[in-house]
Amino acid sequence: MKKQSFLKTLSSDALYNQFLSPILSHDTGIDPERLTQFALALIGQASIYRKRPGISEILNQLANELQHADPRLEQKFFGKSFKNPIGLAAGFDKNGVGAGIWEFFGFGYGEIGTVTWHSQKGNPRPRLFRLAKEKAALNRMGFNNNGAKAMLKTLQKQNIGDPLNRQFVLGINFGKSKVTPLEQAAEDYAASLEILSPLANYAVINVSSPNTPGLRELQKPSQLRRLIRHLKLLNNSLPLLIKIAPDLEDTEIQHIAGVACEEKLSGLIAVNTSLDRLGLDSRIILQTGRTLQEEAGGLSGSPLQKRAVEVLKLLRKSSVNDIPLIGVGGIDSPKIAWERITAGASLLQVYTGWIFQGPSLVTNILKGFSEQLDLHKFQSISEAIGSNAPWLEA
Ligand SMILES: Cc1cc2nc3c(=O)[nH]c(=O)nc-3n(C[C@H](O)[C@H](O)[C@H](O)COP(=O)(O)O)c2cc1C
Repeated sequence: MKKQSFLKTLSSDALYNQFLSPILSHDTGIDPERLTQFALALIGQASIYRKRPGISEILNQLANELQHADPRLEQKFFGKSFKNPIGLAAGFDKNGVGAGIWEFFGFGYGEIGTVTWHSQKGNPRPRLFRLAKEKAALNRMGFNNNGAKAMLKTLQKQNIGDPLNRQFVLGINFGKSKVTPLEQAAEDYAASLEILSPLANYAVINVSSPNTPGLRELQKPSQLRRLIRHLKLLNNSLPLLIKIAPDLEDTEIQHIAGVACEEKLSGLIAVNTSLDRLGLDSRIILQTGRTLQEEAGGLSGSPLQKRAVEVLKLLRKSSVNDIPLIGVGGIDSPKIAWERITAGASLLQVYTGWIFQGPSLVTNILKGFSEQLDLHKFQSISEAIGSNAPWLEA
């Protein structure tokens, strides 16, 4: 009884507001990368031991608080049922330590990675900066990860089961190792895909990180086509998606949409972080003394909202068939999320907004969606996709 009531007081929202929110409201203080590592260490243990008494109670309590069940939000993609359209974006769980428990946080799916064939340290620290006032982040992590073989072990340790028979949906996001020359990119991606595909529901080919020199070259239609064809020859039928940058010209985006349709990709993810400073004031990054404009790295969070929705609309318009689009970039409220769905995204992902708003962001978005479906008298979320239906106040 006592244990039960103690657990009840341990709401994720209360913990977040009490401990994390004050830290996240300043640019300096506890290093954001250390905070992430601490959270992931706990999450990793919880995932391995998720069936043990104590841990399973805490996770169920979390699920009670954060999951929002509404059958109208379910959709089927890649032969799997997504319980809701909100997923964890790539880059938070780079090594896949939480693969077994992202569903407890209310997510309809999780994307782990970016993983590369070779393990790599990434760029020197500091390489992740909070921009609290702007509700944004700047990062130049550089695909720090333990490598594909280590991810395989990490996933096996969590016993996550067969992709088609388990409840939750897991995507794996793949990158090119820094040591591999661009001309051998296809073989490098393929090596990781070969060993990890049996555990994933979909694979994302990341050609849009700004922090691996030359990587974005692979977005050029001829290179992209060659890469996709190479990866499609692999002996697996895993759905392939491409994640693109927000900094492309509109015509380049149209070309990518064309390649995606011709090569029968399973989806496109828009967008990765931006090299543009998106109209933000030139201000000093306190950890380095350089200005935001001088500091290398990709921008994420609220300032990305405008471009992310533009890219999504362009993709929707340029895709001849109904290729599923995943919208990501600056999603930090139900209204912003609804705008992305009605602009043509079938699924969404969150990262920076989720950090700043806390875990209840997912639940709030889903409750907002249920309410909008009621107000618009839509039977299901798929009716809202690409409908341009406005956000209605209840
Ligand atoms: C610290 C950090 C690390 C990231 N690492 C990756 C990554 O490894 N692979 C990837 O595809 N995207 C990565 N991203 C990009 C996010 O997945 C997402 O596309 C981007 O941040 C925009 O979404 P947001 O505004 O909700 O954060 C990273 C973002 C952040 C903030």
